[in-house]
Amino acid sequence: MNKNLPRREMLRWLTYAAASTLVACHFTDPTTSSGSVNWSAQDASKTPAPSPTPRLGSVSSATIKVPENFVFIKGGTFLMGSPTFEPWRGQDEILHLGTVSDFYMSKYEVTQEEYQEIMGYNPSTFSGKNLPVENVTWFDAITYCNARSKKEGLTPVYTINGQSVSWNRGANGYRLPTEAEWEYACRAGTTTPFNTQTSISAEEANYYGHYPYEIEENYFSQGNLATKPGQYRQTTVAVGSFAPNRWGLYGMHGNVSEWCWDYYGPYSTQAQNDPTGPTSGTLRVYRGGGWNDFAKHLRSAYRAAAPPTHSSYNLGFRLVLGTPTTFASVTETVNIANTGTGKGNILIAYFTWSGNTRSIAHRVQQITGADIFEIQLVNPYSTDYNTVLDQAQRDQNRQARPRLANRVEQMEQYDTILLGYPNWWASIPMPIASFLEGYKFTGKTIVPFCSHGGGRFGQSLTAIAKLAPDATLAKGLSVYYSGGPNLQNEILFWLRQNGILKP
Ligand SMILES: Cc1cc2nc3c(=O)[nH]c(=O)nc-3n(C[C@H](O)[C@H](O)[C@H](O)COP(=O)(O)O)c2cc1C
Repeated sequence: MNKNLPRREMLRWLTYAAASTLVACHFTDPTTSSGSVNWSAQDASKTPAPSPTPRLGSVSSATIKVPENFVFIKGGTFLMGSPTFEPWRGQDEILHLGTVSDFYMSKYEVTQEEYQEIMGYNPSTFSGKNLPVENVTWFDAITYCNARSKKEGLTPVYTINGQSVSWNRGANGYRLPTEAEWEYACRAGTTTPFNTQTSISAEEANYYGHYPYEIEENYFSQGNLATKPGQYRQTTVAVGSFAPNRWGLYGMHGNVSEWCWDYYGPYSTQAQNDPTGPTSGTLRVYRGGGWNDFAKHLRSAYRAAAPPTHSSYNLGFRLVLGTPTTFASVTETVNIANTGTGKGNILIAYFTWSGNTRSIAHRVQQITGADIFEIQLVNPYSTDYNTVLDQAQRDQNRQARPRLANRVEQMEQYDTILLGYPNWWASIPMPIASFLEGYKFTGKTIVPFCSHGGGRFGQSLTAIAKLAPDATLAKGLSVYYSGGPNLQNEILFWLRQNGILKP
């Protein structure tokens, strides 16, 4: 256990979690795919069949069947993003009109059984055939889409050529939703933070139930909370365990986040028609939040992003099928932006409040011999635990950029930054944002390490990825407080995994 951490603090973070009420959860049997619905029959009445110029990948609608566990989503126009008054919104959620065409979406996240059947293996951390598959990269997800399309006689939509991926919108196979389709489907006509209205409870979704919406600003007096703290299950649960949204989709909030097609990039304020995101980038969007996320990160508008090679026990996907009318003859080719190598000159840069991250950073320094830099503030946070909790949530809420007291000399000499920080309110402390905005990270690799009190990385990796989109974000290490007796081995494994130490 950590000697630097005031025992009082550690107990507080843990006691709070332990004292939360346990809420009974009603689990229903998930439906698995069986039977099929004739696709053209469902659609024929809704939209006139187009007569696209025949081209590679186009198919006749008459031959397509839609699995029973898909729902038809009638296209429409909606408000994408969040209004400026929505608590805990991100600045990247600019409200704008989005229009999406008709599509079909799977009612559930892809299960481990479905994944195993097509891919022949199951990468998930948790085990159970009706649990959502997780630990899948974006590349794994699109590979599954193609493999399942082939198996079912559909035309694969993705052409995967190393890091470069094309999406043939004329093909009729399985695919990921676009970010706009995902949000449209999640909202199911709602404009509130969640499709369950203004709050979401642990009986409505599987998430880090100790931290319901707006707990941050009501931590010490919870009377005003619309939803009180509930169960934190610390695992995925069977798909279909909670009530569906108004359009019959299960688990759009929580359980696992879901990969989308789009590269992460800024929204336009202009109305968008069937947007597919930027044509290049380094991060892919994922949505909806997972079992390990606070409620604020489950919001319909919340945008998470990670490199397409990233995987996590908190992240899976669900499927979409286009309708014949949306087989527009568009082929997009997108490329992954420049990536670093994870080697070369190394700098360990870290921020700490109570010392845990410092002790981990020094351990890493002993092993690597790298230069080390502690990020310090012109106006340090209070040393009082309750006060810093409040200061930190306020800073995060207004996306403050605290002024830093020191700078890395000649940052250009470093190729790899081992970036250490404590998990604060399920994300990074804002001094890390000041640090990331203070330098150019193009071509550099950031290798995060996060000290936490049970929440692991929270959404800190998304926050780093968004702030340094031109850096390569390598595999992170999360350490419980200052780490246990196995810390040395965990660090060694992590450094080897990232090619910083030889195997
Ligand atoms: C302001 C504040 C917010 C915190 N928020 C979280 C959290 O959301 N999840 C979590 O697991 N731990 C949280 N913790 C606990 C810290 O992540 C943990 O104590 C960490 O080891 C502190 O690292 P440090 O000693 O380098 O500051 C928080 C601590 C503070 C002071």
